[in-house]
Parts: sequence; C-alpha cells; structure tokens
Amino acid sequence: MNSRYILALAIGTSLCFAGMVHGAAAPADTMNAGQKADLHKTIETCAACHGINGRSVSPTFPNLAAQLAPYIELQLHAFKDQSRADPDAQAYMWGMASQLSDANITALAAYFSAQPAAAGKPGNPALISQGKSLFDQGAPAQQIPPCASCHGANAQGMATFPRLAGQHAPYLLRQLLVIQSVLRTAPVMHGVVKNLTRDQMQALVAYLESI
Ligand code: HEC
Ligand code: HEC
Repeated sequence: MNSRYILALAIGTSLCFAGMVHGAAAPADTMNAGQKADLHKTIETCAACHGINGRSVSPTFPNLAAQLAPYIELQLHAFKDQSRADPDAQAYMWGMASQLSDANITALAAYFSAQPAAAGKPGNPALISQGKSLFDQGAPAQQIPPCASCHGANAQGMATFPRLAGQHAPYLLRQLLVIQSVLRTAPVMHGVVKNLTRDQMQALVAYLESI
C-alpha cells in the first residue's frame, strides 16, 4: 500500500485535506497521523482570519485561496524570520508564523493554494477601467511597467509573483502603500511602485478586486 493510499484511508473525505490528497507532491503524504492532526488544527487557527477555504470575509485579511504555493511559502518564511515587517505583519503574522515548522509551512501552502479562488466583486466601472489599463500597459511616462508582465495577463500570478485577482481592495492598497514606503521589503516591487500616485493605486486595486 503506498503512502498516498494510506493517507486517503486515514482522512477519508475530510474537508480540510481534500485538496491535498490529489496533489502530486502533497507534503501531507509523508506525515504521520499526529502530524496530520496538528496540521488540521493549524488550518483551523488560520481560518479564524483567512476563512476555512482561504476565502476571507473581512477585507483586512487577505484571501489565501488559489494563491500560489511558492509565494505563500516565501511569505510565511518572511513572517517567521521577521523580514516582512510592516505593522500588520508584525501584529498578526509574526506570532503565528513563529509556531510553524518548515514542513507545516509547505503543507499549509499546498492546502491553501489548492482551494478555489474567491469570485471578483463588482465596483465603480470608470475606476475599474482606468485600473485595467494601468495594469495591462503600465504608465511609461512615470516609468511604471505593466503589472501584467509579472503578475500575469489575468493577475493569476506565477510562482513567487503573487496572484492578485479577486483579492480584497483594502488589503491590496495597504500593501502598495507599505511597499512604497519600504515598511514592507519587496525589492522588485519598490522600483515598480515608487512613482504610483494614490489615485492610480485606488484604480488598480478596484480593478484587481473586480476580476
Ligand atoms: C489573527 C488573524 C490572523 C491569523 C490567525 C492568521 N493570519 Fe495570516 N494574515 C493576517 C493579516 C492581517 C495579514 C496581512 C499582513 C500584512 O498586511 O502584512 C496576513 C497575511 C498572511 C499571508 C500573506 C498573504 C499575502 O498575500 O501576501 C499569508 C501567506 C498568511 N497570512 C498565512 C496564514 C496562515 C498559514 C495562518 C495560520 C497558520 C495565518 N495566516 C493566520 C491575519 C491572520
Ligand atoms: C518585475 C515584476 C513585477 C512587476 C512589473 C509588478 N510586480 Fe507586484 N510583485 C512582484 C513580486 C516579486 C511581488 C512579491 C513581493 C514579495 O515577495 O514580498 C509582488 C507583490 C505585489 C503585491 C503584494 C501582494 C500581496 O498579496 O501581498 C501587490 C499588491 C502588487 N505586487 C501589485 C503590483 C502592481 C499594481 C503592479 C503594477 C503597477 C505590479 N505589482 C508590478 C513583482 C512585480
């Protein structure tokens, strides 16, 4: 009996692990029953803010559903080693991440990345269309590159370039501001956002929340 089959038997139709059983390299495959139970408890802790499926109901808390696993892992390590140090990271995530083993970080990233994405929300059409054009084309006069060149044509993300589609606008706006002011270290993004105005940020996040 291979380990994936044993895992499937052990957890049956458990909602929490449904996404992992089919994953090609599901890290939970190598966990014993006690470690799996711990992981399940941890997911429930995360769910208090991020939602059990990673689709959070409060715009303060980012959706994790369908976020890319390599990006989630990178961020959890950055909270754990305290290199992501904006005020909300410190207040909400440093303590959480300090408790996570490397194996749990990998398993949590696999779990949340396998959850279906949150649906986009309608918003102000004029703002959304301004945001879409900035996202697709950038603003050459201000040396702002097209966001789509890294985050993907539909803001679906790629590897450590995060998915932005369907993310809560207030969360995204806060990130653009803390990245611009270098409270959040994100070297590639600093150059991108340094000349963005607050109005342009509002348009971009309205567009991203809507798709
Ligand atoms: C008390 C509320 C709370 C709990 C519990 C919590 N988080 Fe968070 N999480 C936040 C907030 C707030 C942020 C945004 C931090 C910021 O603005 O820098 C965040 C950010 C994140 C991010 C970065 C998302 C991104 O798009 O960059 C990840 C990944 C994450 N959390 C994973 C987890 C995991 C995994 C758990 C459970 C082990 C967890 N969180 C538990 C509040 C919480
Ligand atoms: C050259 C590649 C590149 C370009 C162009 C780019 N980004 Fe990013 N972006 C990144 C990377 C890499 C990260 C992750 C930073 C980290 O690891 O902390 C990121 C992170 C972000 C985040 C934080 C997401 C989260 O979940 O916390 C936002 C918001 C964002 N980018 C918006 C934009 C917008 C808007 C544009 C266009 C104006 C843009 N990006 C253009 C590479 C890029």
